[in-house]
Amino acid sequence: MVKASASAKVILFGEHAVVYGEPAIAVPVSALRAEAEIIETDESFRIIALDLDNKVIDFDGEDPLAKVAQLTLSRIKQNPPKISLTVKSNIPIASGLGSGAAISTAIVRALLAYTDISLSQDEINQLIYEVEKIHHGTPSGIDNTVVVYEKPVYFVREQSIEMLNNAQALHFLIADTGQAALTKIAVGDVRKLYENDPQDIRPILNEIGKIAELAREAMQQGDIEKLGKLMQENHKLLQALTVSSPELDKLVDTANEAGALGAKLSGGGRGGNMIALVKKGTIENVKKELLDAGAVRVFETVVEKN
Ligand code: PMV
Repeated sequence: MVKASASAKVILFGEHAVVYGEPAIAVPVSALRAEAEIIETDESFRIIALDLDNKVIDFDGEDPLAKVAQLTLSRIKQNPPKISLTVKSNIPIASGLGSGAAISTAIVRALLAYTDISLSQDEINQLIYEVEKIHHGTPSGIDNTVVVYEKPVYFVREQSIEMLNNAQALHFLIADTGQAALTKIAVGDVRKLYENDPQDIRPILNEIGKIAELAREAMQQGDIEKLGKLMQENHKLLQALTVSSPELDKLVDTANEAGALGAKLSGGGRGGNMIALVKKGTIENVKKELLDAGAVRVFETVVEKN
């Protein structure tokens, strides 16, 4: 039996603008993971998705999970072996936590371990990016990068990957609105907005990029107060891009009023999750207020000092 896994991720700064070449910051959420397990069988290759009612997926289909397996085996020039590959994940889907990239990465890693063929992290990252294109249309590549490397990254599209130094442990609460939202739709809507009115939208994207740059500096200097303020500003600019929602705004306001240093939506928006930067002493209070304000789930994640 062979097992592999990959972590969830959360975007701290720069979502949406990153699609247009601006920098963004994302960190892994290692407590939430997707797992893939392979056992040998006498039958042809199949995938079993435990979270989708044990759905059985044939190798030769159009299903996105089958596509991951097809792309991987074609990349390493192997025929489909007689195996059963079971996938499970505790990462909520369609909520901005990178569940798609994590599931794909776990499948690729399991297939590499099974065939005993190694690819570099860079090569795996490229492969997952191909899969992300099938899901998202025009992904920036930030999701696959942070998931594959499982390290905080400062990401600029089509540039070499910069791992981030973080001078102080950062405590975040991630709160789920409970509303699934497709990144592809939000990204497409921002594209329309941009094409209809580039003079107004370009400055918003540039401003988001500047915030991500300042946030990198603040992380390197351990300036937590500044990071919180930058999150507030980033959220306002995401509102201007129409990707927030009343539920996200409510949770962001609630977190700020309950003592968070800053809060913003995270990921594609329109639903999914928001994040709040909190000092250790306020965690319990902010968490309680978020749940009272309608969050369906709140969990804590720490970006360790490095
Ligand atoms: O919804 P998520 O977590 O997959 O985040 C997508 C981030 C965007 O910037 C909105 C899109 C992208 O491809 O970078």
